[in-house]
Amino acid sequence: MDMCDQSLYNKLQILEPKDKEMDTMERLRAMEGPLLFWYKEHARSLPWREEPSPYRVWISEIMLQQTRVEAVKPYFERFMENLPDIKALAEVEEDRLLKLWEGLGYYSRAKNLKKAAEILVSRYGGELPASYEELKTLPGIGSYTAGAIASIAFGIPVPAVDGNVLRVISRVTESHEDILKQSVKREMEERLKAVMPKGYASSYNQGLIEVGALVCVPNGAPLCGQCPLASVCLARSNGLTDVIPVRTPKKARRIEDKTVLVLWHEGRVAIRKREETGLLPSLYELPNLEGHLNEEEIFARLGVKEADIFPLPGSKHVFSHVEWHMTGFRVELKDGAAGDFLWITAEEMKHTYSLPSAFKAYTKLIR
Ligand code: ADE
Repeated sequence: MDMCDQSLYNKLQILEPKDKEMDTMERLRAMEGPLLFWYKEHARSLPWREEPSPYRVWISEIMLQQTRVEAVKPYFERFMENLPDIKALAEVEEDRLLKLWEGLGYYSRAKNLKKAAEILVSRYGGELPASYEELKTLPGIGSYTAGAIASIAFGIPVPAVDGNVLRVISRVTESHEDILKQSVKREMEERLKAVMPKGYASSYNQGLIEVGALVCVPNGAPLCGQCPLASVCLARSNGLTDVIPVRTPKKARRIEDKTVLVLWHEGRVAIRKREETGLLPSLYELPNLEGHLNEEEIFARLGVKEADIFPLPGSKHVFSHVEWHMTGFRVELKDGAAGDFLWITAEEMKHTYSLPSAFKAYTKLIR
């Protein structure tokens, strides 16, 4: 057999893997062909994929971190229209930025975008650097996002391991390790870096993400019958897709009871700024009090004697570590109320100020 036959033979082995004989690295290497072929045929057409400039990839990846693709699309388009480049993002007023982000949640993402844009303008000539290591030094950019920007926008062969990829690779390799552990993610990044094809970094990473999103799904049964990686997947051949990936159960969330107030005075409604630290730092909020208070208690806390007060429906909002269980009241004040409030019109609430979606059950009543 000459060299040519030998390499052809190796390729055929990859196409027809014999499960028992492959070690983990061989198994990962065997994903390449089927994955790239499948991605070419099945990739969804998404706005940031059609035109993958570094800026667009960056913004889309940050939006996609905690939010579904379908929910991100309209936000992404609007963001690009309003802030078409890094300079515009660096210069935007924070309130306008938060308004553009309103509804996406996790507002620190938006604040970090602006901070990073300021650094890019002052130190990088207003461009994202074509370097995984340098990208990782920017606010809000961790190993996943740096890998995604480096590979998708610049074609640099570095992995982009998010929850989708952790799930797909854990299943393919039948890893029983806890995917919430940083060490497990780091090891997977190193292994993928070693097997990633040069010249196909973008399709390879997005292919893994796409398989995770569309086929190797987290809840309910994965669609193994449609999976390009089925022939190399150990969890599938061993019937373990329902136990892998392993995640250690999170601690129960803390429950916080709150009474939210829609305070009206002379056609304006009260909002205030939250503390600079803790949950939803420095964002505007509706005034609210700890505990589920009755009307008398509310009057006492506001320091008012006379007001019309009406109960509003209860609402629950789930954050990653805390749940707010809210009751609400509309209070029509005769004279002002004690407290450091900003009094705004319903119009301003709609167009100018951004309030976290935790308050949505009450802000939607402000008209
Ligand atoms: N989720 C995270 N990154 C993504 C991407 N580039 N395409 C689709 N879904 C994603």
